[in-house]
Amino acid sequence: MSARKPINVLFVCLGNICRSPSAEGVFREVVARAGLEADIQIDSCGTGGWHVGKAPDKRAVAKARQRGIDISGLRARQFRAADLAQFDVVLVMDRQNLADVRDVWRQVGGTEPELFLAYGSSPNDEVPDPYYGGDDGFEAVLDLIAEASEGLLARIRERLA
Ligand code: 4NP
Repeated sequence: MSARKPINVLFVCLGNICRSPSAEGVFREVVARAGLEADIQIDSCGTGGWHVGKAPDKRAVAKARQRGIDISGLRARQFRAADLAQFDVVLVMDRQNLADVRDVWRQVGGTEPELFLAYGSSPNDEVPDPYYGGDDGFEAVLDLIAEASEGLLARIRERLA
């Protein structure tokens, strides 16, 4: 256990059934491996409300499982304005998510949303929506997320130090 105030991290996509639950699962694993579960709290949500209460997409669950990560227990919820007060780091997957969350941020203030891939070294700055595509898209999502998660952890470690 640590006496440090935890840092709250929120991942945001559109549906909260593909990209952001995958990011939540991958980043939880990275944080657990670093032994920092007590210092970093993690959640995810979607700007849209269509899938509220649903488990992640089966393809996302299967691809994560191949990497030893279980996201089957997560349930979708919708982004709310209060998230910008509650979370210290708000990470969106694409520019549409950024525009949507930024609109709310302009009204209520709090934590400014950032593109998650700003923490990675890939030339991509968006995690492409895999929902209407094939399995390859889900694999690409995990690769992008895994890489950015390492950069994110490094930056959060600086904040915790
Ligand atoms: P996500 O993917 O934003 O990564 O969860 C999507 C899931 C569902 C839909 C769009 C994107 N949809 O339109 O239902």
